Amino acid sequence: MIRTIIVYDTKYGNTKLVAEKIMEGVSEVEGIETTISDVKDTDPKEAADYDAIVIGSPTHFGGPVRGIKKFIDKLGKLDTKAKWVALFDTYLGEDFEKSVKKMEKRINEKVPKLKLITSGLSIRVDGMKGPVTDGELPKSKDFGKKIATQLKT
Ligand SMILES: Cc1cc2nc3c(=O)[nH]c(=O)nc-3n(C[C@H](O)[C@H](O)[C@H](O)COP(=O)(O)O)c2cc1C
Repeated sequence: MIRTIIVYDTKYGNTKLVAEKIMEGVSEVEGIETTISDVKDTDPKEAADYDAIVIGSPTHFGGPVRGIKKFIDKLGKLDTKAKWVALFDTYLGEDFEKSVKKMEKRINEKVPKLKLITSGLSIRVDGMKGPVTDGELPKSKDFGKKIATQLKT
């Protein structure tokens, strides 16, 4: 059984909702076990023990939030069993993929052992507090399915 953990941070719940949809997608593929966890309740040591870690952040000031950056930095100090990572963000306005790219860079620098399963997902919200823009949520589920399918190959 391949084990994945989806770790997210959220202020207003939108990134959590995306994480839940990703989980739904992953669950549709047989042979992949998945769990979801708010970064505030996540022990990096436990996360490091999964086969794959999916990390999601809201975009604050053009990048991922502090809790997620710290989580990545802590992973870098551990002997991770995990070999795979996938990244997603939520954003408003012009900042498509900005947080995803910054998380990618941070992972490359701090946790080079983690390889990207697939390119990142950037989900648009309509306002500071959301909601998620129409048509964006199905992309989250597809992203989960894609992750699970890739992990099986
Ligand atoms: C302090 C703060 C700064 C933000 N800065 C940006 C930003 O630079 N670019 C952007 O696209 N969205 C920005 N946003 C909007 C967030 O992306 C949006 O609130 C978030 O995607 C909602 O996700 P959440 O409900 O999981 O917190 C900011 C929001 C807050 C609260």
